[in-house]
Formats: sequence, structure tokens, C-alpha cells
Amino acid sequence: MGLHAVSVALLSFCYTTALTARLPRRANTTDVLDWVNPLIGSNSGGNVFAGATLPYGMAKAVADVDGENTGGFSTDGSNITGFSALHDSGTGGNPSLGNFPIFPQICPSDDINTCRYPVGARATHYKNDSVVAKPGYFGVTLENGIKADMTVSEHAALFRFDFSGTATGNGSSDPLIMLDLTDLWQSRQNASVSVEAEDGSEGGRIKGNGTFLPSFGAGSYVAYFCLDLAGGTVKDSGVWVNDRAGTEPKALYVTRGFNLFYLQAGGFVRFQGPVSGPISARMGLSFISTDQACQNAEREIPGPDFDFDGLVSSAQDAWRKKLTPISIATEGIDGSLQTNFWSAIYRTMISPQDYTGENPDWQSNEPYFDSFYCIWDMWRVQLPFLTIMDPVQQARIVRSLLDIYKHRGWLPDCSMSTCKGWTQGGSDADNVLVDAYVKNLTGIDWELAYEAVVNDAENEPLEWSIEGRGGLASWKSLNYIPYLDFDPNGFGTNSRSISRTLEYAYNDFVLATLSKSLGKDTYTKYLMRASSWQNLFKADQKSFINGTDTGFTGFFQPKYLNGTWGYQDPIACSPLTDFCSLTSNPSETFESSVWEYIFFVPHDVKKLIELLGGEETFLKRLDFFFTSGLADIGNEPVFLTVYLPHYAGRPGLSAKRAHEYIPSRFNSSLNGLPGNDDSGAMASFTLFSTIGLFPNPGQNVYLIIPPFFQSVSITSPLTNKTAMIRNVNFDNAYKNIYIQSAKLNGEAYTRNWIRHEFFTEGWELELTLGSEENAWGSKEEDRPPSMEGSSGAVKML
Ligand SMILES: *[C@@H]1O[C@H](CO)[C@@H](O)[C@H](O)[C@H]1NC(C)=O
Ligand SMILES: *[C@@H]1O[C@H](CO)[C@@H](O)[C@H](O)[C@H]1NC(C)=O
Ligand SMILES: *[C@@H]1O[C@H](CO)[C@@H](O)[C@H](O)[C@H]1NC(C)=O
Ligand SMILES: *[C@@H]1O[C@H](CO)[C@@H](O)[C@H](O)[C@H]1NC(C)=O
Ligand SMILES: *[C@@H]1O[C@H](CO)[C@@H](O)[C@H](O)[C@H]1NC(C)=O
Ligand SMILES: *[C@@H]1O[C@H](CO)[C@@H](O)[C@H](O)[C@H]1NC(C)=O
Ligand SMILES: *[C@@H]1O[C@H](CO)[C@@H](O)[C@H](O)[C@H]1NC(C)=O
Ligand SMILES: *[C@@H]1O[C@H](CO)[C@@H](O)[C@H](O)[C@H]1NC(C)=O
Ligand SMILES: *[C@@H]1O[C@H](CO)[C@@H](O)[C@H](O)[C@H]1NC(C)=O
Ligand SMILES: *[C@@H]1O[C@H](CO)[C@@H](O)[C@H](O)[C@H]1NC(C)=O
Ligand SMILES: *[C@@H]1O[C@H](CO)[C@@H](O)[C@H](O)[C@H]1NC(C)=O
Repeated sequence: MGLHAVSVALLSFCYTTALTARLPRRANTTDVLDWVNPLIGSNSGGNVFAGATLPYGMAKAVADVDGENTGGFSTDGSNITGFSALHDSGTGGNPSLGNFPIFPQICPSDDINTCRYPVGARATHYKNDSVVAKPGYFGVTLENGIKADMTVSEHAALFRFDFSGTATGNGSSDPLIMLDLTDLWQSRQNASVSVEAEDGSEGGRIKGNGTFLPSFGAGSYVAYFCLDLAGGTVKDSGVWVNDRAGTEPKALYVTRGFNLFYLQAGGFVRFQGPVSGPISARMGLSFISTDQACQNAEREIPGPDFDFDGLVSSAQDAWRKKLTPISIATEGIDGSLQTNFWSAIYRTMISPQDYTGENPDWQSNEPYFDSFYCIWDMWRVQLPFLTIMDPVQQARIVRSLLDIYKHRGWLPDCSMSTCKGWTQGGSDADNVLVDAYVKNLTGIDWELAYEAVVNDAENEPLEWSIEGRGGLASWKSLNYIPYLDFDPNGFGTNSRSISRTLEYAYNDFVLATLSKSLGKDTYTKYLMRASSWQNLFKADQKSFINGTDTGFTGFFQPKYLNGTWGYQDPIACSPLTDFCSLTSNPSETFESSVWEYIFFVPHDVKKLIELLGGEETFLKRLDFFFTSGLADIGNEPVFLTVYLPHYAGRPGLSAKRAHEYIPSRFNSSLNGLPGNDDSGAMASFTLFSTIGLFPNPGQNVYLIIPPFFQSVSITSPLTNKTAMIRNVNFDNAYKNIYIQSAKLNGEAYTRNWIRHEFFTEGWELELTLGSEENAWGSKEEDRPPSMEGSSGAVKML
């Protein structure tokens, strides 16, 4: 392809939007992809992956920076250090993946030693307004004029490096592409590279492997690559170590020696310049072998002439297809809200990642998904959203969880780069399985699912930092997780006794649900355990902020083995104090305060309201929580609390609260997320809120508020029936956000919640709005179900 043709193709591709690092101003367009801005959340800790990927794709190509690089790229003003094709999205933890980055440059003189190899030396800023991010495409121009753009298939990426903008040159015009045997976290343990590129040949191949550490987990993983370079005549090639390069040898092995010293090293190919078009770099990836990496690339991106534009359009078609089930009435709706909405849907399908065929640990015909990072983040809203939007994939995701159970003996709780990640609280996959059950996902072995969840509930693994639950002996005998538990049966981080008690109680509730439905005799047993959360409720506990009584009495508190209460200040671990994680400031509540966890009883809210002194004080307490700075809206445990007023008969207060946070804390700015996206959790909170149906996952329940659009239609990919939720008296200034009355399929509807059949049966819900709350949805019988004694869970099915 000639130079001229290249720039024309690029121009025609990019015409639709000024897709720059600025907030996109969308043109009058009918292509839904023009409303997707992958750069939302690309700074201020959103950590989103902003590059090119297919839905759930393994290959994720983007420019990597040296600033906020957990997801690879960031618009935080930091410098580009490479271009790589394995990434995670929205995660906390250490920078994830980013293996085998490649980097283009022109050495200032003929001497290859005048190029800059180490990551710090080669880091280069980019032209801020050159960033183009679209589903399936990412492009950026370095300050030195080298333009890079990229796209992907499932297991391979295609990069192009255009040197034509470096006219002033470096005294040389010979383009060099180097590959670094590293990852974003520089976690490489050992690695190999070999370069096959004869001088004078048209293009060459660099291949190899490396052992790396997972960014939030145990063990190590091996990744393999196969890089094909084309677009010019090879001038020379070889390997580099630190800041020196040579044309002999053509292969290299690096390991960690003295003091685990980290050696920077890799391979390079230099072309004779000037080249007549871009240099193409096709990067094949695998977790199985280098051969498989090469085969993936050859099969998915055939040569010798790589069809870049064809790949971009296939990727875009794949994304368009994923977005088709949903449509919104947008008249009078601010464009930024639409961008926020479609971009959020896009982000729900970046991870988990479909690694089927790339599982290094066992062979199976079942799907294999990875990047559950972590299920603690994903079970509450992201996976429930996929159950509606993409139930076929969600069923495959659930099957992959079960296949992991079958082969490893445990359901995963967190996973990344084929390794086990650290557990954060309960056995969260239990909640995912039962949510899929109550929503009728098909093709899943429910007997196996029951077995897997019972395993979590009954058997303690030796290492419960990576699977299952800890302290099970105490849980079974005392029905709470003791503060400073004595647990000789297994080991893990012996903290979080309050949040683990609450999460285990919910896990046992969903197990009770499954048990009953499958006709097992364990229903009563698990239902009893599901009410164990009450054992840590200390009725006379007060909470002070700087010596001033907040006025609320009754909080969860840690309890020793001997039944004596311990103490954790209810405001500890809130935004008013210090953050508490597994490693920093470990406490009896994980990543949130007692103030926040007091509301985490998703199955028994009615009882909670009673214990807290009734509806009025419950609502006052919620209000204080949200207005005092105690609520951390940027982390998952808070999500359901926004909607808890439904359980006290005040659905209008939930709607009001949702509008207080969207768009002020969840918006379409590049810094528009209040915390890590956590795969697509922040995205899904936004989505469920804006469509007006918020899930309580593990239960067949969605809490109703008015959608932020005039109407929303969702076609079930399983039944092809279209559900619609429509506002009457909608106003786009959001004064009328209170439901006055509702009709379901034309009949009066008074419940403030609805079941999943709404989506699968294609029901129609019409909400008449007003500017003041009235009594709609307030009656006892119109509130969402809570567990009540031994029949509660059945009623909730
Ligand atoms: C979009 O384009 C159509 C047809 O050109 C026009 O009627 C409509 O007013 C435009 N809408 C906006 C929001 O610009
Ligand atoms: C590019 O953007 C970054 C981050 O916003 C900023 O720090 C830097 O000054 C900008 N550079 C130019 C040349 O505008
Ligand atoms: C030319 O060399 C300078 C100094 O090493 C470097 O900053 C610049 O990025 C190089 N330009 C290209 C196009 O590689
Ligand atoms: C980024 O790279 C430029 C050269 O392109 C350099 O001048 C600047 O100091 C670097 N910035 C940072 C934050 O490292
Ligand atoms: C590479 O590193 C891994 C992880 O430390 C280790 O298990 C493996 O034996 C090493 N391989 C070689 C060849 O040294
Ligand atoms: C990595 O590649 C080298 C060189 O081909 C080979 O000797 C080594 O066994 C490979 N390592 C793994 C883990 O496949
Ligand atoms: C699940 O299937 C059963 C049996 O067909 C049906 O009664 C129920 O309504 C379905 N539930 C959902 C959530 O679709
Ligand atoms: C219970 O154990 C705790 C912690 O070891 C201790 O401080 C407390 O005094 C004990 N209570 C009783 C009644 O023995
Ligand atoms: C408590 O008071 C100190 C000193 O006035 C202040 O810095 C701090 O923010 C206050 N803490 C809370 C939780 O209000
Ligand atoms: C967008 O959200 C971010 C993160 O919550 C917030 O800091 C920012 O103020 C919001 N921007 C607008 C315009 O509301
Ligand atoms: C839904 O539509 C698709 C595509 O037209 C078709 O393949 C599928 O059989 C339909 N499913 C049902 C349940 O009607």
C-alpha cells in the first residue's frame, strides 16, 4: 500500500468524529459506535482499557504509558513506552499484562547503539490531539512524528507504524522496531527471544516467551508471542541488552540472577529507509506455545498483505451487533448522556476475556474465560447486565466457572492471566451461579453448580486467599467469623471478619435458593446460616465523628471466639479515614466501613430495617451515610444502598439519589468514573440506573425507578421478545423523577420492583411521572421481597 493511499484510508476512517482526547462532540449520526468513547475513564483512576479489542477479546492493543498504566494507556499526560496487545480493564492491583511491547524509532545515526532501548530512555510523549480511540481501533502520533495505529482479531493484533511524518528525520531514515521482553509491571522472571530476519529480506519474525507474575494473584504465568514485521527490506536485526544492541547473536535468554536483578532485553529489526509506506507489525499471542501464537496470527490475520481496514470493520461489526439488543428514545437528551450510556455498555464487554483454546492447565470442550478481576466486583451489576444484554455469552461465562471448578476443585473468586487471584470476601461465584439460575440461563449443569456452591459452603481449602472460604469451622459452629479467629484448617488473610460474615451469609442464602429449587434437603440448613449476619449486630453500638455523636445506634462489630465484642470504629475504612485493603490497613471490613456494611444484607433488608429501629430511622441513616462523606460511591459495596429506600416503601428517594450521582460522578468525561471501572462495574451501575431497573443479584428482582430516557427497549437475545419501559410526563431536566402510577402490559402495577420475565417475556412497563413523591410502591406488599423465616427464600424465587 502506498503512502498516499494510507493517509486517504485513515482520513476516510476517522472522518465521523473529531475523536480526540477531548470530550467527543458527536455529529448527527445514526451509527451507534459514534456514541462510544473508549477513553472515558482513561485517567483519574478509572484504569479502563482504551485500545482496540473485540467483545471479550484476548488481544487488546493499545499504547502503553509510564503514568497511570494499569490498563495500558492513560490520558494523564504521561509518556508512551511501547505498544502491546494483552491487557485488563479497569482493574486495581498492579499494572496488568502489557507483555512484549514493541516500539518504533529511527536511530540518530547509522549505529544501532544510538537508538534508545531501555523503557525509561525510549519513553516519548504523544501529540495530545492525535489520539483516536474507537471500538476496534486505536491510533496516536508520537511527538517525533511517528504515527502508530492498531486493530485486533481474537488472539492477534495488527499495528502500523507510519514514519512519513518524521521528515526532518534523525540523520537516518531507517525505521527500527524493537521488542522488549517485559510487561507493564516489569514482573518478568525469565524470557526468550529469537529473531528471524535476514538482511535484505522482505520482513522478518521475532518470537519468544516469558514467565511473568499475575498483577493481583498467586503463582506465575507464561505468555508466548509471534511478531511478524513487514513493509520494507530488512537492513539488519539482532538483540539488545540494557542500552546496547548487536546484530549477533539472533537469540537471547534472560533470567533473574543476583538479587533478582532485572535486565532489560529484547530483539529488534531495522529496515532500509526511507520506506514507502507504514511498517506493519502483526502480533500473535498465546498462553500455550509460540507455535500457537504464530498460528493464531496466521489464521486470523492472513498475509502477506494484512487487511487492516477489513479487521477494523469486522471488529466494528462485532461491536455493533453486541449493542443491537438495546435502543433508547433520545429526543431532547443531552449528547453527553448518550455517550455515557453507550460507552458504558461497551465497557461491560471488554472483560471477562474469552481465552477458550488458550487454557494452559487442562483440555476441555467447555468455554474458558479469564480476567474475572474480581468476581467480588463483577457479581453485583456487571454480570447481571450481561445476563440481560448478552445471555448467550453469560451462560458460557457461567459454564467456564463450572469447568474451572471441575478441574481445579474450586470455583474461582478472582483470576487474571491464567492465575488465581486473591479473594476479597465471600465466595462470589456462588452469587453468579444462582443469579444465572433464577434468571433461567440455559445450557448449564445445575447439579454441578449445586455441588460447586456446596463445596464453597462446606469445605475449607488450605489456602483460602485464592479460593473458597476461611474460618468455616467457626462459621458452622458459632455462625459468625470471629475476630482473630483460631483456624488451623486453612490459611488466608485473617482480617475482614465482619464483611466475610455478611458475604458468607449471602452466599448461603443463594445456596438455599438453589437447594430448594433443585429439591435438595439442605434448604433449611443454609437458610439458617443466611440469617447469621445478625450475630454481629451490636444493638447499643454508637458512632462518633470527631467526638460528635452521629445519633445512630446499632452497628455491626467484630466478635471474638469467646463471644466477647471487639471494636472497630464504625467510620474506620470510610472516605473520612483510611482506605482498608488486603494489604494496606487490613481491618474487619474490606474496602469499606462498618457504616457501609451495615446496609449489606441484600436478602434480609426487612429484618435489617427492624433492627435499625424502623423505616424512619433507617431512611435517616441512609441519608446521613450519603451526605456525611461516609459513602464511597467509587466502590461496589455502595451500589445497592442507593436503592435501599425501595425496601422502606420510598422508591422516589432511590430515584433522587441516582440522579445525584449520575452524571455528577459517573459521566462521559475522560475522568468520568469515581473509581476503578473494575472490569465494567462502574459502567453497569450507570446502565442499570439509567434504564431504571436495578438488580439485587441472586434474586429475581429489579428495583424500578424512571429511566433517564423517555423510553428504553431491550430485545432478549434468547426469546427475541422486546421489553419496553416508558416514561409518561418525562422531562429532560429531571424534575419529574417520581413515579405516580405504573402500568404493566396495560394493567395497573403497584409493586416497586419487577422480575426478570420482564426482559424474557417482552413486557411493557409504563411509568407516569410527577415532580413530587406520592404513595406509589409504598405499601408493604408492593416492596421487594425479603427473607422471612423458613419460607422466605422460596417466596423470593
Ligand atoms: C439530524 O439530521 C437530520 C437530517 O439531516 C435533521 O433533520 C435533524 O434535525 C438533525 N438532528 C440534529 C440533532 O442535528
Ligand atoms: C498534553 O496533555 C497533558 C495532560 O493533560 C498535559 O499535561 C500537557 O501539557 C499537554 N501537552 C500539550 C503540548 O498540550
Ligand atoms: C530521533 O532521535 C532523538 C534523540 O535520540 C529522539 O528523541 C527522537 O524520538 C528520534 N526520532 C525518531 C523519529 O525516532
Ligand atoms: C516525556 O517525554 C518527553 C520527551 O518526549 C520528555 O521531555 C518528558 O520529560 C517526559 N515526561 C515525563 C513525565 O517523563
Ligand atoms: C522461569 O521462571 C519460572 C518462575 O519463576 C520458573 O518456574 C522457571 O523454572 C523458570 N524457567 C527457567 C528456564 O529458568
Ligand atoms: C521459551 O522459548 C525457549 C526458546 O525457544 C525454549 O527453550 C523454552 O522452553 C520456552 N519456554 C517455555 C516455557 O515454553
Ligand atoms: C424460568 O422458567 C420457568 C419455567 O419455564 C418459568 O416459569 C419462569 O417464569 C422463568 N423465569 C424467568 C426469570 O424467565
Ligand atoms: C475473650 O477474648 C478476648 C480476646 O482474647 C479477651 O480480650 C476477652 O477478655 C475474653 N473475654 C472473656 C469473657 O473471657
Ligand atoms: C476531625 O477534625 C479534624 C481537625 O479539625 C479534621 O481535620 C478532620 O477532617 C475531622 N475528621 C472528620 C472525620 O470529620
Ligand atoms: C465527572 O465524574 C468525575 C468522577 O466522578 C467527577 O470528578 C467530575 O466532576 C464529573 N464531571 C462533571 C462535569 O460532572
Ligand atoms: C431469534 O432470532 C434469531 C435471528 O433471527 C433466530 O435465529 C432465533 O431462532 C430466534 N429465537 C427465537 C426463540 O425465536
